[in-house]
Amino acid sequence: MDNHSSDMVEFGPRTHVLVTGGAGFVGSALADLLLARNCRVTVIDDLSNGSLRNLPDGDPRLTIRTFRVGDPAYDAAVREEVGLADAVFHLASPIGVQRAHKERFAVTSGILESGCSIVEACRLHRRPLLYTSSSEVYGSGRDRPITESDPVVTDLRPRWGYAAAKAAVEHLVAGLFFDLGIPTWIVRPFNMAGPRQRSATGLVLPAFVNAALRGEPLVVHDDGEQRRAFLHVADAAEGLLLVMQCRSLRGRPVNLGGSEAVQIGNLAKMVVEATQTNAPIVMKPSSAVYGEKFAVTYDRVPDTSLLTTMTGWRPLRGTMQTILDCIEHMRAERVIA
Ligand SMILES: NC(=O)c1ccc[n+]([C@@H]2O[C@H](COP(=O)([O-])OP(=O)(O)OC[C@H]3O[C@@H](n4cnc5c(N)ncnc54)[C@H](O)[C@@H]3O)[C@@H](O)[C@H]2O)c1
Repeated sequence: MDNHSSDMVEFGPRTHVLVTGGAGFVGSALADLLLARNCRVTVIDDLSNGSLRNLPDGDPRLTIRTFRVGDPAYDAAVREEVGLADAVFHLASPIGVQRAHKERFAVTSGILESGCSIVEACRLHRRPLLYTSSSEVYGSGRDRPITESDPVVTDLRPRWGYAAAKAAVEHLVAGLFFDLGIPTWIVRPFNMAGPRQRSATGLVLPAFVNAALRGEPLVVHDDGEQRRAFLHVADAAEGLLLVMQCRSLRGRPVNLGGSEAVQIGNLAKMVVEATQTNAPIVMKPSSAVYGEKFAVTYDRVPDTSLLTTMTGWRPLRGTMQTILDCIEHMRAERVIA
């Protein structure tokens, strides 16, 4: 990483970092990483999809505030927390294609309201902000790895409310940098997976693992040949931190995702094999699951060379490791429950 060091901003041991959505899947992994670097961390999470169990208990360097970013009643609290922080990661967001498709209004407004609240607080206090957008902004996918210069494409089908709101907040975040000189970063994560991801959100890997552990069918949509690349959440957290340490990536969208493309039908087979169960794999048209208005996405695999070139980041864990860690976590959760 020496060749990049002149362009990096280091987080010192006393850096105070605010993580919205920090009780969630990725946010809690990021909080773990920041605490391991000896930072002070404040998490804001409304626990709509996160859990306090994801965060360490009794660590004096960690403060947890449970309220909804974007609720006008808490705007003053958001501004206060942003003012106290040296850097802000905004991860809080409704998630999941399933929810985006079924609850377009709540999902779209949830992203816009929380985004506006955080952007305004960062504008007032001139605080550095990293925003997690989504690869959903690329729309229906491509038959080759997607780069940051690929166009952002959505239409009015329900699924794309999430993507359109993420893209709108990207503009606010870019505006903070280009118009006001406040350092900001925009990350577009592709599929992230691993421990603490909830199957209830319908995300494919935890849904497969959950089904396999119960001996229930793993439901593969359409022909199962759609390709995705899964990034282990620990590699994702490292990537987020490296992005915010890289001055040259300010104001630009940056892809974050796995390096191994896998077909969803094969992913189902890998999960059945790794869980050592006899759970059946069944194929179903996505229209039978979501209805005719569903926007099907075939291949969505990232080109992450921008991030690697600028920071030296590379994923250290492959797809099978990600699957195994997901299984181990879900098995442990069942024992606790
Ligand atoms: N997981 C993925 O594969 C993926 C892919 C692309 C983008 N992303 C983005 O990455 C970020 C993190 O995703 P995740 O998978 O960890 O999701 P997650 O649901 O596990 O984490 C989001 C957290 O935000 C909280 N939250 C939601 N709205 C809030 C609000 N208004 N105020 C306070 N807290 C709120 C939830 O309770 C949850 O703990 C999100 O912005 C998501 O859109 C995730």
